[in-house]
Order: sequence, then structure tokens, then C-alpha cells
Amino acid sequence: MNILGIETSCDETGVAIVNDQREVLSHLVVSQIKDHQVYGGVVPEIAARAHLDHLDTLIRLAMTEAKLDFSQLDGIAATCGPGLIGGVMVGMMAGKAIALAHNKPFLAVNHLEAHALTPRLIKDIPFPYLVLLVSGGHTQILVAENVGHYHLWAPTRDDAVGECFDKAAKLMGLPYPGGPNLEKLASTCSHPHIAHIKFPFSIPMQHSKDMAFSFSGLKTAVRNAVHTITDKNELPFLAHSFQDVLAKTLAFRADQAMARFRQDYPEQTQPALIVCGGVSANMTIRESLEKTAQTNGFTLFAPPLEYCTDNGAMVAWAGVELLKAGRISSLNMKARPRWPLAELKDTGT
Ligand code: KG4
Ligand code: ZN
Repeated sequence: MNILGIETSCDETGVAIVNDQREVLSHLVVSQIKDHQVYGGVVPEIAARAHLDHLDTLIRLAMTEAKLDFSQLDGIAATCGPGLIGGVMVGMMAGKAIALAHNKPFLAVNHLEAHALTPRLIKDIPFPYLVLLVSGGHTQILVAENVGHYHLWAPTRDDAVGECFDKAAKLMGLPYPGGPNLEKLASTCSHPHIAHIKFPFSIPMQHSKDMAFSFSGLKTAVRNAVHTITDKNELPFLAHSFQDVLAKTLAFRADQAMARFRQDYPEQTQPALIVCGGVSANMTIRESLEKTAQTNGFTLFAPPLEYCTDNGAMVAWAGVELLKAGRISSLNMKARPRWPLAELKDTGT
């Protein structure tokens, strides 16, 4: 089963072909970092036009690299949401056009589901498993019960952790994309233990009974801290302390979720915690989750870095899973700027 996957929901144009044997036959990503850098963030209209500029060529190249023609595809998968609507429409319409022209099944992929299923492209991780989804637009802990069946356990009350990274980086004068640049800056901190004394931050909502995230307070705390800095050499200390509290925050909630998972799914003898989305590329966060997972007797799975940030392979793999589950979409499917995972069950798409 060969599936073409198209990802255009944010600032990466991703095209890949993946088969049901977990082989990635081609995997191409064009990042628009340069187009948006001058504005310090993603400009939706520019993103949509850039997807339009690159997509045809990428699809052609991906097909050549995989040595396939369209007749050898078993389905076309495209992200239909959630995301920046202009870009989503570009990828979705390209996918629908190929599906229609070649009479192939069209697979409407939810971008969040694609992130949550990505680790299964690497390894056959059995359902149910726990997912910590950490990206630029989303931060949530959910249980993946099956393809199309998710329970949201910990949402965010305000911002996503990636957005928090990006805003904090901007405040520290770092270029877009903020997350990776902030990680680099934090790694230059010469005395990590002093960082926490100089810039103390606490885990948001630590004493709340609500299993939820909140990052807006941290953003404000970073802004206040930046205003106290007079010497640029202090910035690595701030970056280190900030990154550290984010890692602790994610580990703290993951720890609670693992305890609840043990109670709710006692039959799962190989419990796994999956971390996915762009922020899962962060090594401090991975290490802190690894420790918490081990303490709880869970295996942590994090996709290879190239599959953490947005890419076509995760969409193509989600397409494999959707097709196997018989979840083929109608060509009337609309692009969705918002598309919570909980709604998949009802719509069947
Ligand atoms: O999943 P993704 O590529 O796009 C969305 O669906 O949002 O995630 C992008 C986010 C951005 O906020 C980016 O700054 C963050 O992931 N990110 C990182 C790192 N690499 C990417 N954050 C922290 N550390 C990193 N190494
Ligand atoms: Zn994403």
C-alpha cells in the first residue's frame, strides 16, 4: 500500500510517500523560515502562496524519487486541518485533484492525529497509549485508543508550549523560529545551577486539581525578567531557566497522566508515552520525559527529529492508518482551521 502525503498547514511544505511496511519511499520538506524570518513569525498569506509555489514541484520530485507513477498509489492523504486555512486549502485541493484525476481514495488527515500516529511509522506501538502533543499551535495530553479515537486529558488553558518558546525567544532578541534558537542559547549557559537562582520560575498550575496546562503567565514572567537584564551575558541563564521550567512542567503533567493511565487501562501491560510535535525536538524536554517515563514503568517514544516538526511522512503514514481503518473521506471534505481530535469519532473522518 503506497500513500502520498501532503502537509501544508503551517510554514513547511511537506510531501512524502510511505507504504504500509513502514518504508519511507520519499520525504521532502521545504521550510519557509527565510520567507517569514523578517516578520518574526509566520505570515499566513505568505505561507499559503509559498505552498502554492512549491507543491507541484515537490510532488513531482517525490514521485520520481519513489519511482512510482500516480497509478501505483493506493491513496492520497492531505492535511485538512487544523492549521492556517490558506495553506491547508492549497494542500487539500492538490490532494483532492490527484485523487479525482486518478480515481484514488482521498484521505483527509487531521494534523494532530498525524503527529500522534507518527511513532507508529517507526515501530508498531500497540493502542492504547498516552500522547503528549507539543507543537507551535497545540499542547495537550491525550489517550490514543485507536485510529480516530482519542480522549483529551490535559488541554491548555491559553497558549501552546511552542508559542511560549517562540514568544520568549523573540523577547530575548532571538530570530524566528524561536524554539530551536532558544535551545541553542540555553546550551551556552556556563553555570546552569545559578540560572535558577538568577531567574526563578515555577511550574504553572502546579497546585491546581485541573490536569491542564497554562503558559501565558510564564510568558509574562519572561517579559518581566528580560526587562531586568542589562548585560547580554545574562541571556543564556534566562534561556536555561525558562527551558528547564517548561521541561519540568511537561514532565509534571505527564507524570500525573501516567498514574491515571495505569488506573484506567490496567490491561495495557506495555504502557507507552509518545511525545510528538515540533517541541519534542528539544533535548532537555526529551531527557526530562525519559526520566519520568522510566520512573512510571512507561516506555518513552519520540520520533526521529526529522519527523517531529511538520512533514509529509507523518501525513502519508496517517493516510496508511486511515485507509487500513476504512476511513476514506469524501471529496466534499472542507478545510478546517479548528479540528479537535475529539470530533473525529463523530464525523468518521
Ligand atoms: O509541530 P510543529 O512543526 O508545527 C506546528 O504544528 O505547530 O511545531 C513548531 C513549534 C515551534 O513553536 C518551534 O519553535 C517549536 O516547535 N520547536 C522547538 C524546537 N524545535 C521546534 N521548541 C523547542 N526546542 C526545539 N528544539
Ligand atoms: Zn505540527
